[in-house]
Amino acid sequence: MESLKTKPSYGIGDLQTVLLNEEQISQRISALATEISANYQGTDITLVCVLSGALVFTSDLIRKLEVPNRLDCIRADSYGDSSRASGLPRVSNPLKTDIQSRHVLVIDDILDTGNTLSAIREHLSEANPASLKSCVLLDKKERRQLDIEADFAGFEIPDAFVVGYGLDFAERYRNLPCIGVLKEEFQSAQHH
Ligand code: IMP
Ligand code: MG
Repeated sequence: MESLKTKPSYGIGDLQTVLLNEEQISQRISALATEISANYQGTDITLVCVLSGALVFTSDLIRKLEVPNRLDCIRADSYGDSSRASGLPRVSNPLKTDIQSRHVLVIDDILDTGNTLSAIREHLSEANPASLKSCVLLDKKERRQLDIEADFAGFEIPDAFVVGYGLDFAERYRNLPCIGVLKEEFQSAQHH
């Protein structure tokens, strides 16, 4: 019955459920920005955005921060083109800025097993920053493999593979304004 299979539209219609809508995300990011600004009052921070997933989150968060900041990006790849991690994350994309003696805030889309954030923290700490904290939009606590927590977190979510607002499935759906779970029939790489 291959011919009857529905094709993905790569839009909201491919979602089975919406977990967080645009309004909820925006309100939570405003609150996070206030919390972060208060925490770093009187300092100058260096934001390190973890590409590509945290791109959308970072662009909204940075515009609400009330502390002087610089922005840099780093990359960590572990998923390849599927929804399952394919090994230990590889940190790449060297920073443009010198973070020695700087207050660094890593921004990632989601804290899942903890392998990515852990690898990034290890990599950045080699440069001797003055402080090293992290901020994630989503926290899937149930799936943690390492003893690691984010200093700032937007939402705790259940163990489901989510897309939208920067999060992808095979590089798709990053542009959705909300965050949701894909319909089962689109959760396989052959569609993408
Ligand atoms: P961790 O290394 O297992 O903590 O996974 C973190 C990275 O995996 C994130 O930066 C995401 O790129 C990706 N990831 C984990 N869970 C999801 C998900 O539900 N949807 C999309 N990407 C995810
Ligand atoms: Mg990804």
